[in-house]
Amino acid sequence: MPADINPTAKTPEAPAGGDELIRFDKVVKRFGGNTVLDELDFSVASGKHVTLIGPSGSGKTTILRLLMTLLKPDEGSIKVGGDYLTHEEKNGTLVPAGEKHIREVRKNIGMVFQQFNLFPNMKVLRNIMEAPVTVLGLSKDEAEQRARELLDMVGLGDRCDAYPTQLSGGQQQRVAIARALAMRPQVLLLDEVTSALDPELVAGVLDVLRDIAHTTDITMLCVTHEMGFARDISDQVLMFDAGRVIESGSPEKIFTEPEHDRTREFLSAVL
Ligand SMILES: Nc1ncnc2c1ncn2[C@@H]1O[C@H](COP(=O)(O)OP(=O)(O)OP(=O)(O)O)[C@@H](O)[C@H]1O
Ligand SMILES: [Mg+2]
Repeated sequence: MPADINPTAKTPEAPAGGDELIRFDKVVKRFGGNTVLDELDFSVASGKHVTLIGPSGSGKTTILRLLMTLLKPDEGSIKVGGDYLTHEEKNGTLVPAGEKHIREVRKNIGMVFQQFNLFPNMKVLRNIMEAPVTVLGLSKDEAEQRARELLDMVGLGDRCDAYPTQLSGGQQQRVAIARALAMRPQVLLLDEVTSALDPELVAGVLDVLRDIAHTTDITMLCVTHEMGFARDISDQVLMFDAGRVIESGSPEKIFTEPEHDRTREFLSAVL
């Protein structure tokens, strides 16, 4: 077993009301000499909506990129649904995960990015069908039916044949949300998904996300500067600073009576 993995180590409990779905255990991430995540511990219960807030550079995107396996932790471990994300058990021993294991665990996780990242050469419908067909092995008919239902849900049922560049930023972002949901992930990661949008397009995207939060049991981990939205959908808010959670609690507590000066300073700058 690698020295940095201790499956029996005790870490803070997930909030009550669901099984633990995500667990970071003493996760360290460095870029050169810069320690971005510093023995980070936190967990998210299944079905809960957790919002990450904190100053620029505090490591919020890094957390989401680790969960997407776009980055690897230098130390510590990350579990999703009881499985290690970057390690796997072989003959009772933990070894670094192979590509196949990582692909399996990652199937449970969808991400929506600030910059949409749609496939520019594919029409909207195919953007959504692509991964369910190639990764999940759905038939084209099944994938198309799923894609059309999701496009209806995000209010774009009539834009199946458009290319991404023919859509507004808000419409592209709603396609990106539909694309993530088409994989039926257990977890949806949202990284400042409205911050690249013109102000008048923000509300439409947030409405779609509110709808998902209120009508599905999907677990959401969300980085946002939209504090009104965070208040509406979050079960828990985590305040990050310098690679650690310095304060966490209900949105009411964090937004109205934060304990830390650092949280107060941050909120007075963004609210
Ligand atoms: N690939 C990389 N190479 C080197 N340094 C990086 C890399 N990615 C992130 N960093 C550094 O890690 C730190 C945390 O970055 P991260 O993007 O996670 O912050 P953030 O909290 O998402 O900030 P923001 O609110 O501005 O998006 C920053 O100091 C950043 O410069
Ligand atoms: Mg970021």
